[in-house]
Amino acid sequence: MCGIVGYIGWRDAAPILLNGLKRLEYRGYDSAGIALLDETLSVMKRKGSVSTLEESSSAERQRLAGATMGIGHTRWATHGEPNDVNAHPHVNAAGDIAIIHNGIIENYSSLKQELIADGYVFLSETDSEVLVHLIDKIWKLDPLLALERVVRRTLRHIEGAYGLCVLTAREPDKIVVARKGSPLVIGIGVGEFFIASDAAPLVEHTNRVVYLSDGELAVITRDGYSVKTIENVEQEKTITQLDFSLEKIEKGGFEHFMLKEIFEQPAVMHDVMRGRVRLEEGKISLGGIIDYLDRLKQAKRIVICACGTSWHAALLGEYLIEDFARIPVEVDYASEFRYRNPIVGVGDVVILISQSGETADTLAALRIAKERGALVLGICNVVGSTIARETDCGMYTHAGPEIGVASTKAFTAQVIMLYMLALALSKGRTLSRNEITLSLKELAATPDKATRILELESQIKAIAGRFKDAKNFLYLGRGYNFPVALEGALKLKEISYIHAEGYPAAEMKHGPIALIDEDMPVIIIATRDNTYAKILSNIEEVRSRKGRVIAIANEGDEDIKRLAEEVIYIPQASAPITPLLAVIPLQLLAYHIATLRGCNVDRPRNLAKSVTVE
Ligand code: G6P
Repeated sequence: MCGIVGYIGWRDAAPILLNGLKRLEYRGYDSAGIALLDETLSVMKRKGSVSTLEESSSAERQRLAGATMGIGHTRWATHGEPNDVNAHPHVNAAGDIAIIHNGIIENYSSLKQELIADGYVFLSETDSEVLVHLIDKIWKLDPLLALERVVRRTLRHIEGAYGLCVLTAREPDKIVVARKGSPLVIGIGVGEFFIASDAAPLVEHTNRVVYLSDGELAVITRDGYSVKTIENVEQEKTITQLDFSLEKIEKGGFEHFMLKEIFEQPAVMHDVMRGRVRLEEGKISLGGIIDYLDRLKQAKRIVICACGTSWHAALLGEYLIEDFARIPVEVDYASEFRYRNPIVGVGDVVILISQSGETADTLAALRIAKERGALVLGICNVVGSTIARETDCGMYTHAGPEIGVASTKAFTAQVIMLYMLALALSKGRTLSRNEITLSLKELAATPDKATRILELESQIKAIAGRFKDAKNFLYLGRGYNFPVALEGALKLKEISYIHAEGYPAAEMKHGPIALIDEDMPVIIIATRDNTYAKILSNIEEVRSRKGRVIAIANEGDEDIKRLAEEVIYIPQASAPITPLLAVIPLQLLAYHIATLRGCNVDRPRNLAKSVTVE
């Protein structure tokens, strides 16, 4: 949520900042801005995309071509509508201090009142602007203080979350950054340093990075960086090597990141399993939890907390773990868990699932679970992310950077992770060696089946063309296919803005059936499992009310053609594996409906990839 970049070195800063912001646009994209420092501080900011800023600032940037340091921001509005004034950076009245900020200042209102009483004039409606005026005020009280100390003093007054960068003409050789609840990473180059809210803008410059932890502040100059806590205690930081390439964060010939990521799924499925599934021996080796496996197997119960698409993966986790390992599982929205005084403690295992590893509610759930003595396990995609670092143990999904806001490949990767975890928890307890080997063999055969589904893209696009003008969609599934119905509906609403609901098929008669008429497309996942006969009855119920049925069925099921207006065939698989396949046509359908409606699928309105505010 919101993106930060910074540069200090020997090269022209503006192109580096703008390029970095483009790589971060998936985090927020309603306005963007940069501040450059040569002899003086210059700020350029605009409502709209980074390209809009790039075009509108070209003359000024030419004039500032010699500036070799600066900071930049792409915004996802929380306080104040997206417009030029509310865009970051924010500057003080003298125009010699600029800040950019991710996160939310919770006590901004009282701070603002105090600052106004002191004569400060606020230009924007943002919470972030208090930071620059407070820095200015604290510095005025003690003009001999170094910037670092001023920032540290300022932060003592701040309640809430921040990823903060400060640039000032008064100390023109450094950038001061600080983090609490909103990620920041420093990229190390040769005679140059980069700052970003995640590693995506850094990979083209360096693969050596330092992740700041909560409560840390760094001073970055052309010669190096130093990290201390906000309380001024020096910190030893480890340099991490990034292991993803530029190619992985570019579109690679696809029209959108989302489509590229949908098509990457067979390869991602292999990546998730690589080194973890040992087919010949029928073994699963999950390095990140190996030392905790016995404790995990002895769990009284498992609670899984997540948000959005990750929450749908969590629901599948519940089905998988209960089915295979017979350990009771509860699934909670992280935002509900954190505020409902949950019963959780020693003996419980809490699993946090998060693509970004930064979602504020999921992070808060983690901290509560840990505080109360539960063993916390993370399933994250972004390496080095906060959730990944704060959990007791965990596993990376290895899906590679996911840029499209609507999650696709990260979801399938999470589900595979949960499938492997469920099997690992069953070993020596509820499943025989033979059963585990068979389940692993089926998992290993899934990427090829996924590839076959991707070959149906043109059929799915044609269906999208026939249904793109519908106002509502209903998605139905039973058992393992119920979370898939929820995920299919979420994909459609996120990117096409069509209202869509997912339901357990049997629940239809308790409400949604009232909505069904000839204008209501109903997507029914009708694969051959133990509820197949029941789902056929649900299709009949929809048909007899003139609903338009699009069925996801197994190859070879000719009967279903009689009942459904459209059928998308997927390969046969057991019920626990089917979600990995059934979700793919739903992703493609949502993608094509959205593009046919002219929507920006990679950057849907009002959404953000990484939600670091509550
Ligand atoms: C946002 C994204 C969703 C994502 C959710 C949870 O809403 O737009 O795609 O599923 O956050 O994110 P996480 O990174 O925790 O999986």
